[in-house]
Amino acid sequence: MKVTVVGAGAVGASCAEYIAIKNFASEVVLVDIKEGFAEGKAMDLMQTASLNGFDTKIVGTTGDYSKTAGSDICVITSGIARKPGMSRDELLGINAGIVKSVSSSLIEHSPNTIIIVVSNPMDTMTYLVHKTTGLPKNRIIGMGGALDSARFKYRLAEALEAPISDVDGMVIGGHSDKGMVPLTRLATRNSVPVSEFLSEERLEQVKQDTKVGGATLTGLLGTSAWYAPGAAVSGLVQAIACDQKKIYPCSALLDGEYGLSDLCIGVPVVLGRNGIESIVEINLSDAEKEHLAASADAVKTNNANLEL
Ligand code: NAI
Repeated sequence: MKVTVVGAGAVGASCAEYIAIKNFASEVVLVDIKEGFAEGKAMDLMQTASLNGFDTKIVGTTGDYSKTAGSDICVITSGIARKPGMSRDELLGINAGIVKSVSSSLIEHSPNTIIIVVSNPMDTMTYLVHKTTGLPKNRIIGMGGALDSARFKYRLAEALEAPISDVDGMVIGGHSDKGMVPLTRLATRNSVPVSEFLSEERLEQVKQDTKVGGATLTGLLGTSAWYAPGAAVSGLVQAIACDQKKIYPCSALLDGEYGLSDLCIGVPVVLGRNGIESIVEINLSDAEKEHLAASADAVKTNNANLEL
């Protein structure tokens, strides 16, 4: 199993590290535009192999896409990240050009690859890859909901004073502060609805804290987060590589599901060797449907700014 990660920055390197530590891939290729940067990250990571006990080979390259040839999965993290006070949407202009050229170079060398898009604004970047590459829709996946759901579970566990492994919950919708739809109604602690333990007011607070999860970290770190994003990407890569048939909320091209079409937005999908193997349609409440529809409108407004 060969995986390419474009962008050897904070998120790219973190996801390469988690993939290597999980030891399911034979090779990870890191690509960056900054001279020597991906090579340096790859060498540093390889020097952790004997310490962390993995056999995955990690190589780096400054823009030589021939080294990525035959990749089963390609992850796009290249582009700029937001600084404190910025929204993800403000990155669109610069990142669209980068994502478009990177995806075309990847497909030239790995025509059968599955692409995972991470660069922000992620839902719009995922749509851009669909529009410009013509790959089948099961092979283009946007990563956002896996991260947002992990942040939701963290906030739920905090409010419940429970171990995170006892908590389940999911965030669908657009990967933006306003667009996220944390499904508090369906969240559980050991199969018991969390509403049995938490007041409506406390649940609303959990929801708000989840939605600004990325912005809170950007404020603290001065730049956007990388551990949880990297771990979330590695989870998606592993689900595909190991044909796990796991359900993750991912940005997928919709064609009538949830009453939406011609956009990519976060919905639960089954991930396996074919990428998105199916989209799971859950029964939403009227309020959740309304929130998802508003989120979809915002994504579509962003998509309209793309020069395709
Ligand atoms: P970073 O600045 O640490 O790394 C980005 C890397 O991309 C840099 O090393 C840069 O040299 C490289 N790059 C730029 N243009 C390139 C090109 N044409 N070809 C190859 N490499 C190129 O940024 P970070 O923190 O790793 O974030 C990366 C992206 O991921 C950002 O757009 C950020 O907003 C997004 N992100 C998305 C998340 C999600 O849940 N979807 C979560 C966290 C970040």
